[in-house]
Amino acid sequence: MKTQETTSSLDALTSLSKRRGFIFQSSEIYGGINGFWDYGPLGVELKRNIKQAWWDDMVRNREDVVGLDCSIIMNPKVWEASGHVGGFSDPMLTCRQCRRHFRADHMDDLIAQSDWITSLAEAGDADEHGMLTLDRGKLERWIRKRGRKQAKGMALVKDAETHLDAVARTIGEEPRALRDVLVVLGMPGLPEDSDPMPCPFCGGDLTAPRQFNLMFKTHIGAMEDHSAAAYLRPETAQGIFCNYRNVLDSYRIRPPFGIAQVGKSFRNEINPRNYTFRSREFEQMEIEFFCHPDEADTWYTYWRDLRYNWYVKLGLQSSKLHLRDHDPDELAHYARACADVEYDFPFGTSELEGIANRTDYDLTKHQEHSGKDMRYFDDQTRERFIPFVIEPSGGVDRAALAFLTEAYREDEAPNDKGQMQKRTVMKLHPRLAPTKAAIFPLVKKDGMPEAATAIYEACKKAGITTFYDEKGAIGRRYRRQDEAGTPYCITVDGDTVGTGTVTVRDRDTLAQERIPADDVPAFIAKSLQCE
Ligand code: GAP
Repeated sequence: MKTQETTSSLDALTSLSKRRGFIFQSSEIYGGINGFWDYGPLGVELKRNIKQAWWDDMVRNREDVVGLDCSIIMNPKVWEASGHVGGFSDPMLTCRQCRRHFRADHMDDLIAQSDWITSLAEAGDADEHGMLTLDRGKLERWIRKRGRKQAKGMALVKDAETHLDAVARTIGEEPRALRDVLVVLGMPGLPEDSDPMPCPFCGGDLTAPRQFNLMFKTHIGAMEDHSAAAYLRPETAQGIFCNYRNVLDSYRIRPPFGIAQVGKSFRNEINPRNYTFRSREFEQMEIEFFCHPDEADTWYTYWRDLRYNWYVKLGLQSSKLHLRDHDPDELAHYARACADVEYDFPFGTSELEGIANRTDYDLTKHQEHSGKDMRYFDDQTRERFIPFVIEPSGGVDRAALAFLTEAYREDEAPNDKGQMQKRTVMKLHPRLAPTKAAIFPLVKKDGMPEAATAIYEACKKAGITTFYDEKGAIGRRYRRQDEAGTPYCITVDGDTVGTGTVTVRDRDTLAQERIPADDVPAFIAKSLQCE
């Protein structure tokens, strides 16, 4: 059946996620907490399926990658060696009026989204090139109508009499780029150590950028002094580097080989935003792949392409997915190559995963700081070398957000009377779908609940996540499962008892076919295969 499909906006997705139990705000009953999220009954299954698919494809079904599960808090010396204590920071600006903090490199985006800047552009004459004409009269009107509410921290708004003439004169009556206008607005009475841009929230003046370390600090034991300080890990990777020798010495494996880890990481992000995209607590799926330096370029290309294709295979359309090689001037000083897998989210194109050739940087640093030999001795070639590392590093929450965004569709499906009705459907890949099948007896009599329960039990025994529902009109039951992303609905009807067959309704095509009831577990299991 062909119907018009609409894809997701972030608002539609967040509302469905809350209504159906994919994602909730953390601590919601206390007003929430910025940068932290909880996964509901459907969300937690989705996330587990993503991690399981990754683990199966990257670890279990390969001979050359093994797993690891490290502690979140490690010896603080780890973070000195890795460079996180000295360098894991973002430049931060603070508003002197409202005390909000901003990442200096996010200012352009924040400004573009600011209420008062939008109203200022509307008050003036803005053309399609973003050039703005704002004479004294327009500026004055804007201060009176909008500025006093939206930009009350701005010196010009607080004390228009003192500043208006000078600001209007500096802006002039020629069209100016909005950014230049903002710099002038932010100037009156600015302390010396300030950024000339005004605060995107209140228009107040901003401090000059200061480096802010993103690691969460805590203390170990009863003393809260400097000697007891420790950090929540900002990435899982360092636990892998620290265990590289342990794995090599305890497990019969040799380069080229990888160590994989999935787990929580924490970053005290200055501006958590875009739903779960930039959170303060999140999960990573990382592999550190150790190889001979001469083979590093080949392995880098291999992992970059493999990781990109993994997302496509699990349902992200390649037209929305991009593999972006970093320009040489974008590379970290230790990296020889790096690429991002990016996805077109509703808020813009952003990174899902990074794949980097980190050279021998990390192992060399840990060798220097720990005094432990990180070289590998190849007894066939008699060569001793520190392996190069190829690192595919992805985020579980960002993957979940991309899969949810991709899956969200609004289209039409027939109701119980055969009339077309709007529906929201989550077209998740069957491997990722929280529930694989829903089993419905058409009515609660004539042996149908018993037959449906038997199929439900058989599916559960086969390890298939299945949902049983006997309440309400069948069309309503289908719709609930469409929103939950369940790929198949199995209906037991009047013919089942006589023929031993059931109907299978396909979530995406809405096609219905009859299959033997005994075949249901095998039918669903087949759909879970990726290719
Ligand atoms: N070990 C390398 C590393 O951690 P990264 O680019 O900082 O590299 C890797 O992080 C991945 O972790 C990102 O591509 C993203 O998917 C995820 N990630 C990083 N910061 C995140 C945040 N604040 N919220 C959600 N996911 C994040």
